[in-house]
Order: sequence, then C-alpha cells, then structure tokens
Amino acid sequence: MDILVKEDYERLSLAAARLIAQQLRRKPESVLGLATGTTPLGLYRELVRMHREEGLSFARATTFNLDEYYGLAPSDPRSYRRFMEEHLFAHVDVDPARVHLPDGLAPDGEAECARYEQAIAQAGGIDLQVLGIGRNGHIGFNEPGTSLGTTTQVVDLTDETVSVNSRLVQAEIPRRAISMGIKSIMRSHAILLLACGPEKAEIVAKALEGRVTPDLPASILQLHPNLTVLLDREAAAFLSPGEAAAEVREVL
Ligand code: PGA
Repeated sequence: MDILVKEDYERLSLAAARLIAQQLRRKPESVLGLATGTTPLGLYRELVRMHREEGLSFARATTFNLDEYYGLAPSDPRSYRRFMEEHLFAHVDVDPARVHLPDGLAPDGEAECARYEQAIAQAGGIDLQVLGIGRNGHIGFNEPGTSLGTTTQVVDLTDETVSVNSRLVQAEIPRRAISMGIKSIMRSHAILLLACGPEKAEIVAKALEGRVTPDLPASILQLHPNLTVLLDREAAAFLSPGEAAAEVREVL
C-alpha cells in the first residue's frame, strides 16, 4: 500500500488526475473504474482541464462506474449516469459506447448484475479503479456487513447513506442500488482510494490500520497488492504518526 498525503483538496485532486493521465498515456485503451460522490469532483474537473489544455484523450478508454441507484432512469437528475455526464463524460472525448453504468431501470436486477460482471470481464477487467470511502467505511455501495466475496449485486442502502446522499442531491434517493461487489472491486489490477476532509479521518485510520472485517468494507483494501491511497491532511489526521509523516511525498 502506498499512502500519499497531500496538503489540501486541490493538490489531492491534481495528484489523482495525474495518476489517471499516466495510466491513459501508458495504455490508451485502459479500462477505468469510476466513482461518484463529492470526493472525486476535483479529480474530474482536473481531468477535463487536462483534456482541454494538455490533449489528454479518453477516446480509446473504457469506463465502468461502481454503482447506480436502482429504480432511476439514466436521465434522472439524481442518477449517477447524470452525475458522470455532467462532471466528466460530456466534457471529454470518451466513446459513449464504451461507458458503462449499471442499468437502474433493469426489470430483472439479478440479470443486470450478471450482465455487468460479464461486461467487465469481457473488457479484460479493470486496470485502475477509483474509490471513495463512505463515513461508515463503505466502498461502492457495499455497506458494513457485506460479505467480502460479493460480486455485482442489488443492495439495500443504510439509513445513513440514504440521508447523506439525499442531502447531496437535495431530493430523496432510492433505498436500493446496483453496486459492484467487494470481490469485483478487489479484482481490479490497481486501486486508487481517495479521501478528504476531517469527517473521513477516523474511518480512514480504521480502514487502513485496523482489522480486516466485513463490518468495515474498505478494510479489505489492505489486502490488495496494488493500492494507492491519496489523502488530504485532514483525512490523514488519525493515521499513526510515523506512517503518515513518513509517507508525505511530493512525487506526483
Ligand atoms: P463522498 O462519498 O465522496 O461524497 O464522501 C464517498 C462514498 O460514499 O463512497
């Protein structure tokens, strides 16, 4: 595990964008796993800027998002499809045919989950998966208690997640979602975990330094062979001092 601590959110976003740009330049046909939420907003803003100003191209890339609300049309303003269009896809040269999110309107949820797993496998697996972490330690919508062996599945959201996310879009969100499972996430060749702000400090320390347990889904990431963690100083505040201080680097 590589833990990089950046001074603030802007620097964290820039470092994350540089890692993705590096991946795309090394392998233009990369399969990227993408996340929604407030954390990656700065990353997407920076990627759009790099596309406009530095010629960063997504033309040959494939993307898979972690999750989508179950029951929402892609055009629904609360949907993750809309979020991704608004913050990234509409502003870069990604091929819409190679953009994937679970279908929130699929009549048969189980079949949709199987189709999604199949599509990831057919694309050759995910080269680089971007992740945020929920205040309760969820990754994707894998809430505490999710078995570590899950693949894409229909999940029930916790009251906390429903209330945090409803506040974000200022509208009630569905109580169910389709989410890549923990095993699907762990199969990615590389993972980039992003966290910022003081409200993530406690869960970040527990996830990275505590016991690996289904009660804290992000803790499984300790076992991933190619994990990069990018934190701002506030989110890194509760890591053991030696670790955080030793890992402060300006390599990006
Ligand atoms: P956030 O969400 O980026 O809005 O904090 C992260 C998550 O819930 O995974």
